[in-house]
Amino acid sequence: MTKNVFITGANRGIGLELTRQYLVAGHKVFASARDPSTEGLSQLIKRFPNNLKTVVLDVTDESNIQTVAGSLEGTSIDLLINNAGLFHSKHEDFGSLNTDTWIEEFRVNSISPFLVTRALKSNLAKANSGVVGMISSKMGSMGDNQSGGSYSYRSSKAALNAVSVSLANDLSDLDISVVALHPGWVQTDMGGPNGLIDVETSALGLKAILDNAGKAESGKFYDYSGKQLPW
Ligand SMILES: NC(=O)c1ccc[n+]([C@@H]2O[C@H](COP(=O)([O-])OP(=O)(O)OC[C@H]3O[C@@H](n4cnc5c(N)ncnc54)[C@H](OP(=O)(O)O)[C@@H]3O)[C@@H](O)[C@H]2O)c1
Repeated sequence: MTKNVFITGANRGIGLELTRQYLVAGHKVFASARDPSTEGLSQLIKRFPNNLKTVVLDVTDESNIQTVAGSLEGTSIDLLINNAGLFHSKHEDFGSLNTDTWIEEFRVNSISPFLVTRALKSNLAKANSGVVGMISSKMGSMGDNQSGGSYSYRSSKAALNAVSVSLANDLSDLDISVVALHPGWVQTDMGGPNGLIDVETSALGLKAILDNAGKAESGKFYDYSGKQLPW
């Protein structure tokens, strides 16, 4: 079955590779980004002119979210992937972390995935068993935190995990499933060159989980290999 897939932060990194893999699999992708005119998305438009639609979306801009949702009124969305994320605090430690960075990470990593999901709720409900994939991080896991640090990023992803579980509960009557996913330590601008896996491996694993996600998986936290993670 051809799916309609909506992805945030689709212009580079994991979001771009997820876009590519869903297009290769024959699905229709709404690839959203603050600036979709990147080389990566331009190449995909040439290859998949009928199935790829780019959408301008800054996930922190609520009026932008409403405009996008309005333009999709009546369109079913089988899969929403809230992928856009920030780790601006990467080089800020216990002593140097500042409030503005922390708030910015909360806006993008925790609040925006909720706002985008809420705006697209009726599109997901229109699909036959809609799925929401929240690209979280193992760094948001308290059970897995053995090294400390990264206060703002860790807490923003822990908050995203809490949002994911509430949405899983609240949207179950509409047959919408919500899963939190750790993509691995990936070689992207965010993960850096020392990441343990490449974007292809990460996106392949995430896609396999999302393609099979349903009621049984909803409200749970998995890494890209399908292993369930502790909160
Ligand atoms: N790489 C890793 O090792 C790793 C590990 C765990 C979790 N993650 C998570 O995986 C997701 C993707 O990360 P990545 O490694 O692909 O990072 P990346 O290469 O830095 O890409 C981040 C993406 O998020 C977008 N973004 C940031 N703020 C946005 C906003 N306000 N509105 C719309 N898009 C916005 C960026 O768009 P612009 O180009 O406009 O900035 C970019 O497309 C993130 O949620 C991240 O936290 C990554």
